[in-house]
Amino acid sequence: MGIPNLQIAHIKPSVPIFQGGMGIGISLSGLASAVANAGGVGIISGTGITLEEMRYHIRKARELTNGQGYIGVNVLFAMNDFAEKMKAAMEEKVDFIISGAGISRDMYAWGREYNVPVISIVSSAKVARLSERLGAAAVVVEGHEAGGHLGTDRPLFEILPEVLETVKIPVLAAGGIMTGADVAKAMKMGATGVQMGTRFVASVECDAPMSFKQMYVDAVPEDLELVKTTVGLQGRVIKNKFIDMIRAGGKVKVDKCTDCLKSCSYRFCTSESLKRSVAGDTETGLVFAGARVGEIKEILPVKQIIDKIMEECKQAYPIDQNNLALS
Ligand SMILES: Cc1cc2nc3c(=O)[nH]c(=O)nc-3n(C[C@H](O)[C@H](O)[C@H](O)COP(=O)(O)O)c2cc1C
Repeated sequence: MGIPNLQIAHIKPSVPIFQGGMGIGISLSGLASAVANAGGVGIISGTGITLEEMRYHIRKARELTNGQGYIGVNVLFAMNDFAEKMKAAMEEKVDFIISGAGISRDMYAWGREYNVPVISIVSSAKVARLSERLGAAAVVVEGHEAGGHLGTDRPLFEILPEVLETVKIPVLAAGGIMTGADVAKAMKMGATGVQMGTRFVASVECDAPMSFKQMYVDAVPEDLELVKTTVGLQGRVIKNKFIDMIRAGGKVKVDKCTDCLKSCSYRFCTSESLKRSVAGDTETGLVFAGARVGEIKEILPVKQIIDKIMEECKQAYPIDQNNLALS
């Protein structure tokens, strides 16, 4: 018995791994194309970049993959530019749209109009069922271990079986997937594949600066904290001066509010503080990371990361001796 193949609409990668969209310039054409070239599925995040920058990175990724492989775009429902970004990405003929931080009926209708599959990120069986009913091509179930904003306080492997029982569309498991054994565990439970974020940040091709990647390599579990951002959701961060300051109730000056969120608490600017860290200032910005970041020991090329995971995953799938004898 080999590793089952992943198929979502026309998307049939050789490796059942999606690289999660990571906003504010962390997953752009560099990372997404490297993952697609290694056999996985690359995702450009449309969050925190301009429409023109997003179009540029979609085209660049196509160039870097010679038009082969699969590239999707991640948009966040919580952002005011959600509809505009989603439609522009579909005009650029991305392979799929993956939407997080909420769902709407409209987004699936736009997907049908442009003939682009829409995948939803969910954290409960209830929202998974609703997404399926509205027309999602697949769902990503994200547990509490994930990097970025969190939709639940429950671990992935507790929610995954509930979602698998509830929907018939393909399900990808996300949050704390780090090794091939994790991938095999999720797939043996019935997941079609996985989505990974944190491990890919510490890759050579990730679009974030070296200081951001190095924070990942240096982090130990005690460095992690949960912080509620102005989006109204918690996110796991690596502690730094910025976190000490907001914990102490300090006022963080906002340079320029663009009213980017549909609903914002205005306590500080989440977007500006993420931009600061992704510009290299990892002390006075927000550094999101997944719960298992402490296991990352080195920054590696994407292909090496994926090959190692797939090798480990294969070992968890014993070769069917009967089939081998027949072939
Ligand atoms: C630094 C960082 C930024 C992220 N930004 C986003 C984002 O903008 N939109 C989104 O839907 N998910 C975002 N995520 C979540 C990832 O796409 C992915 O689902 C998640 O990281 C999976 O968990 P893992 O990090 O444990 O592998 C982010 C994750 C990280 C680590």
